[in-house]
Amino acid sequence: MSDAGQKRVAILISGRGSNMVSLIEAAAVPGFPARIALVLSNRPEAGGLALAQAAGIPTLTLDHRAYPDRAAFDAALQAALGQAGIDLVVLAGFMRILTPGFVEAWAGRMINIHPSLLPLFRGTHTHEQALAAGVRLHGCTVHFVVPELDAGPIVAQAAVPVLPGDDARTLAARVIVQEHRLYPAAFALVAGGHARLENGRVVFSSDVVPPDGALLSLT
Ligand code: GRF
Repeated sequence: MSDAGQKRVAILISGRGSNMVSLIEAAAVPGFPARIALVLSNRPEAGGLALAQAAGIPTLTLDHRAYPDRAAFDAALQAALGQAGIDLVVLAGFMRILTPGFVEAWAGRMINIHPSLLPLFRGTHTHEQALAAGVRLHGCTVHFVVPELDAGPIVAQAAVPVLPGDDARTLAARVIVQEHRLYPAAFALVAGGHARLENGRVVFSSDVVPPDGALLSLT
């Protein structure tokens, strides 16, 4: 925890970092329950690193190619997070599978955004998967991270229509707009302790989420 009682957060990225920017902007609002203490990338060329630096956030690169295996990389990651006094890990386009041991160590304290309405379309190329399946609704999901890929308990989802003539690019463009709305909102719920992982399910404080579930938008 920081001096102001805020959770100290690390955002993990691998690429352009547009979700990261939306999280940094949310956390900059006075009264936000968390402070972005570190942005960490496994890729030195990640565009998001410069954006984080421009926002005054400390950055660190741990190039996964410098480590002999996943366990060694995850040990370095764990050490870096410990050194920075991190309370909550937020994955934002972090394209690296984490070992079960690392994930268990952060159980209930690590969230991810995935560009589909889980449990549909796990893994990569989610927009192509959605088009191939012919679904009429697609979207994004924020979930707690568990060892099984893209299978963690769901915090929040946003839906978009799949329109005639869509290709993966146009669909991705519609989804990312919702990602940038959804992730800061879900991040605030988790950082503030209003959405918690208990016995493998997400439990919400009754005062923050309306009884119908909410955080579902259809644009
Ligand atoms: C997003 O679509 C996110 O859902 C997925 O990877 C993409 C990352 O984009 N996990 P960005 O780096 O946040 O711009």
